Parts: sequence; structure tokens; C-alpha cells
Amino acid sequence: MPFPTQRPRRLRKSDVLRSMVRETHVRRADLIYPMFVEPGSGVTQPIHAMPGQNRYSVDTLVEACKRVHGVGIPAVILFGIPETKDPTGKISLDPHGIVQRAVEALKSSVPGLFVITDVCLCEYTSHGHCGVIVDGDVANDPTLELLARQALSHAEAGADMVAPSDMMDGRVGAIRRLLDEKGHAEVPIMSYAVKYASGFYGPFREAAESAPQFGDRRSYQMDPANTREAMREARLDAEEGADILMVKPALPYLDVIRGVREAFDHPVAAYCVSGEYSMIKAAGANGWIDADRVALEVLTAIKRAGADLILTYSALDLADKLD
Ligand code: PBG
Repeated sequence: MPFPTQRPRRLRKSDVLRSMVRETHVRRADLIYPMFVEPGSGVTQPIHAMPGQNRYSVDTLVEACKRVHGVGIPAVILFGIPETKDPTGKISLDPHGIVQRAVEALKSSVPGLFVITDVCLCEYTSHGHCGVIVDGDVANDPTLELLARQALSHAEAGADMVAPSDMMDGRVGAIRRLLDEKGHAEVPIMSYAVKYASGFYGPFREAAESAPQFGDRRSYQMDPANTREAMREARLDAEEGADILMVKPALPYLDVIRGVREAFDHPVAAYCVSGEYSMIKAAGANGWIDADRVALEVLTAIKRAGADLILTYSALDLADKLD
């Protein structure tokens, strides 16, 4: 029945009514806050390209995580900047490495916080690629063992969940097998299942000092043009034992988030990456947009598309505006 009987504006009349009929909600409980940790003490080093984000040493990370937990954000994901790098990133396996130390400190000082670790080699290799180099390219199978051992050492340090972001074929299965074999069958894997070779990671590479020193990541991360391939990647990771499937980046790939949501029963996570954050902050700083309002609109869109969980640098800024 058309106008004048139908008047959709009736339901938009007040704040109360608008919130009663709201279809999508972003809750603090949906958010995972990415954080960077480096050696030293007393460090709070602002990340130039990501206004409001810092690199912390373990001691200041603990204090920052108390604030994160205090405002009701349930989880963080940690990225480590190690003291040394080499071609195979072997320091990433050190039981006293930077991420392992950070996990131990957080689990004892902020026990209610859920601590996830990013599993990858790019922060630890001298060449900045996500695996070992053989004949000028990242070699898949030799990298698997290193990733599995890194995930194991994170679990041994007390990580609540591991999140491989390298995009090697077969890594979820390799990690799952080693974790199970070594008594960590209960540690879940959140797989960066669908990770595109994206220009939006630019600011992160400054933050984590992980820019590739030659070439790019297109021989392992996905072509932004592909969605059928996204479903295939998600299916393989699901078959290998991934517990949560992630799509990354988020806002430019809402169709992919929706596709994964519809095809799988797994929880779906979306990573709203550094470049997505920095664009909003830059436009906000220029007075062109209201940064917090736009950030919340973006997170709402990502949830509307079907994500259950969102990894976002805006988690702290927005915490007091969320349910
Ligand atoms: C490591 C990794 C990257 C990000 C998360 N894990 C960088 C990359 O693949 O180059 C990007 C996160 C962001 O941009 O916020 N492989």
C-alpha cells in the first residue's frame, strides 16, 4: 500500500524508536584491538601514519592493555617488532622473544584479557617477506614448519588463540597438527583465510617495520579482483581446521565478507586494516569528516555485511559509544 498509508519516516521520529528498530549493532564484545610491542622499557612510541596508535614495550603494553580491558574490549591481537632479523626469522621461535614475553606478561597482569597472536614471518625476516626465500620467491613448504613452530611457541607462552596471516598454502593444517601433537588441542586458530594483496596495509608496514625489501606480496596474497578464489581459500582453511575465518581488508571487501558469512557456519572476522583507519583519521584531522562518526558507520557496515568479529584500531576511540 503506497503513500499516504505507508510512511517509513514514522519509525525514524525519535532516538528511542530508531534504536528499537535498529537491525545491526556493534558491541564492544565484537572488537579485537591490534597492538604493537617492541623491546625495551618505558616505550610509548607514536606511529606516525596511524594517529592515536603506539608501539609499546612490554611494561607499557601491560598498562595500555589494562585500559583496553577496563573499557570493555575483550581481546587484543599482538604484533612483535623483534630485536634482530635474519633471512628465516628464527628469533620468532625464541621462547623469550618479544611476543612470547608480552603474552606471558599480559596473561599474568591482565588475566581477563583474551590474547591473540599474529603468526607470520614478515616482522622477523631481514627481507620482510612472510616466508623463507628460495630462488627469489617465498618458498611455501619450508615456511610451514617455521610458522607451526612459531604458533606453538605462542601457545606455550600462554596465547589464547593464534592467527596465521602469511597466506602460505597448508599452514592452518600444519599449525593445527603441531598444536595438537604438543598438547594444545584447545587453542583455536583464527585464520586470515581471505587476505588480499592490498595497498591498505601501508601504514602497518611502518608500524611493524615489515615492508618487503624487494618485490611485493602478490605471489602469496590474493588478487583484489577475485571472489571465487576467496571462497576456495576459506573452504581450504575450514577443512584444515580453522575455527574462525577472517577476511582482510574489510570495507573494500564487504561482498566477500557477505559471501563467506553465507557459505560457512564458522564465526567470521573482518580486519579493518591500518590504511582504512589512517584515511579516516587524516580526513578527520582536516575537518573534512567527523572521524568517530565515520569509523562507527564503517564498523556498522562491516557487521551488516556479516562479520561477527572486527579487528579494528578504532576500538579504544569508540568503546564509550558502543553497547
Ligand atoms: C603480516 C600482517 C600484515 C597485516 C597484518 N598481518 C601486513 C602485510 O601482510 O603486509 C596488516 C594489518 C594492517 O594493515 O593493519 N603478514
